[in-house]
Amino acid sequence: MTDTNPSLTTEEKASLTSGSDFWHTEAVERAGIPSLMLTDGPHGVRRQRESSEQLDLADSVPSTCFPPAAGMASSFDVELVERVGRALGDESAAADVDVLLGPGVNIKRSPLCGRNFEYFSEDPLVSGELGAAWVRGVQSRGVGASLKHFAANNQEHDRMRVSSDVDPRALREIYLRGFQRVVEDAKPWTVMCSYNRINGVFASQNRWLLTSVLRDEWGFDGIVMSDWGAVDDRVAALAAGLDLEMPGNDGRTDAQIVSAVEDGSLDAGVLDVAVERLRTLAERTRATPRTASTVDHDAHHALAREAAGRSLVLLKNEGDLLPLSPSARVAVIGEFAERPRFQGAGSSLINPTRLDIARDEIQRATASEVTYARGFDLDGRADADELARLRSEAIDAAAAADVAVVFLGLPAKDETEGADRAHIDLPADQLDLLDAVLSANPHTVVVLSHGGVVALPFADRVPAILDGWLLGQAGGGATADVLFGIVNPSGRLAETVPLRLSDSPAFLDFPGEFGHVRYSEGLFVGYRWYDARDVEVAFPFGHGLSYTSFSYSDASATVTASGDVEVQVTVTNTGLRAGREVVQVYSGLPRTEVQRAPRELRGFASVELAAGASTRVEMTVRRADLTYWDRRVDQWILESGTYRFDIGASSRDIRHTMELDLEGDVVTLPLSESSSLGEIARDPAASAVMREIAASRGEQGGLLMQLLDPETEMGGLNVSFPAGRLRMMGLSDDEIRRLVG
Ligand code: BGC
Repeated sequence: MTDTNPSLTTEEKASLTSGSDFWHTEAVERAGIPSLMLTDGPHGVRRQRESSEQLDLADSVPSTCFPPAAGMASSFDVELVERVGRALGDESAAADVDVLLGPGVNIKRSPLCGRNFEYFSEDPLVSGELGAAWVRGVQSRGVGASLKHFAANNQEHDRMRVSSDVDPRALREIYLRGFQRVVEDAKPWTVMCSYNRINGVFASQNRWLLTSVLRDEWGFDGIVMSDWGAVDDRVAALAAGLDLEMPGNDGRTDAQIVSAVEDGSLDAGVLDVAVERLRTLAERTRATPRTASTVDHDAHHALAREAAGRSLVLLKNEGDLLPLSPSARVAVIGEFAERPRFQGAGSSLINPTRLDIARDEIQRATASEVTYARGFDLDGRADADELARLRSEAIDAAAAADVAVVFLGLPAKDETEGADRAHIDLPADQLDLLDAVLSANPHTVVVLSHGGVVALPFADRVPAILDGWLLGQAGGGATADVLFGIVNPSGRLAETVPLRLSDSPAFLDFPGEFGHVRYSEGLFVGYRWYDARDVEVAFPFGHGLSYTSFSYSDASATVTASGDVEVQVTVTNTGLRAGREVVQVYSGLPRTEVQRAPRELRGFASVELAAGASTRVEMTVRRADLTYWDRRVDQWILESGTYRFDIGASSRDIRHTMELDLEGDVVTLPLSESSSLGEIARDPAASAVMREIAASRGEQGGLLMQLLDPETEMGGLNVSFPAGRLRMMGLSDDEIRRLVG
């Protein structure tokens, strides 16, 4: 390979492929390569102050804290996420940040993953669509995105060493599919590899992942950087396709690259390619004009409030307890109303520009006096007497009010990068408090704050539940908006709420042992698992209520010229107030030759409708999304058959079902002695030979013919009988050779 950087020494080239410090890349000014600043991400811009320690996560310049992915995903709103992405891009540009480290599109395999708050969903389509929107938004402002954590990083336990052992179909169809969508649709300028190994090989030095799949198959043309400290063997990593090691280490591993080039164990061309990619990244960050030099923090706070408002999920609303009347006497209970839980801990921690306090926002939304009782002690320092006092204050406040709004959630220490949870329960003192409040006032609304899913043992007893997940800095205002009906809730669950942790798909194989975690549930992640096993859940994937109601009519599904499926349905707002509906389309293939979940999300749309208004909703189901990964040929294959398309308001609230015959791909496998008689029968030439052989065998020939046809008495053997074993039925070596070609 020719040296494309003749003016650079090998030392300079090597230095470019690792950071100059914790947050910057190296510059070689005379070669026109500037230093770039990389910053977390994803739901705000965590630009650390120059003076602060590398690891002082809390000491960053204030920026807008938008809802973290766990909250924002519930919006199912691509346009909104892109708008938030643009605002993040503007804030990054104004802070001189070149690459914002996000989005995180890892799949929520287990409710216990300590970083689920930073990820969108248990479903790859939701993760991929929202992740792509985020990337488009940020990059439209001349700031690069870094799609992370690539790949199969679905737990925090042992995250820097563990091997995620995943079979090829699950890897492709569940864990890589969201990444693929973001790469193909939104073209992120960078990808961040994860810490873990995949089937034994570190992501950072996984050539198959970083080069064969990411670049050769998906066409990625940006740079791959390491997660911070994810590189185990720098030379192997560079050779595998990792262009940039982060953070820098004062040249220690650059020296290894130089030696490897000098002793010939690393092709110098590999280094040149990485340097060129870094140059391209720098050019990309300069190519799009950065319009924002200052940030309108008020406008971004308003956007954060809008995003939070669209992300709140109304799980339950018996007797239309919500929205609250402005004249209602409201008791606000629970310390979260005063000390909001609005983001998770770790590298994504944002220092917000402002922070809405739900208690104050609720008071602002109503003319009546709002009472407040702390209810429990979030820090867990209160003794029994103090707790009893807090509880009795809460009971008094609830009893004197028309409605009690109880804020419950997970304490911040329960959800942090680097550790998984051990259970999905809310703290016992909070559950006890809720029981006490309920007996004082049955008109009780629960408002939840948490990054990972929590069990809701009270769901049958409480008339109304509003699930905020994590809502960012304007969550307090957005909660008040939804409680009083200023905003009509439209959020949907991007993650199933199970009844018990032990019902969840990865329960028996999480977080693994001795450095390996086996993804034994395979394809059956999230609702795919609960549906396939017919397991009752507390609230299904895609669920969320509104203060109005919607009807669905005139559903249709047609195949377009490109082979995609165009699904349409008319949605009508049949209630009395304006609202948004999230329409979902799922597919299934009941008669299938491969393992499949009964129902898989293939499209969704969020539509706004005035009271009484109707609209025709169109959703394109991509042909590619209907394919499965065929490990025999290592390709995406569309199986022929009658597909079912379910249009619904949730994965378990299906309003219309349609069937469509699709002509799939033909998988041609070379015949061998191991081919089954079924495969022989499907091959015209081979089945002709078989018929000829059968005809020469008299009575025994009839049996041979039966074996070819699955519908006959002996047909059961059809799928399992290898051609070579026909020797035991008297076929000669020569006949078998003719049969399998
Ligand atoms: C996290 C990344 C983050 C990086 C830089 C790592 O520990 O896994 O998500 O971008 O640190 O802070």
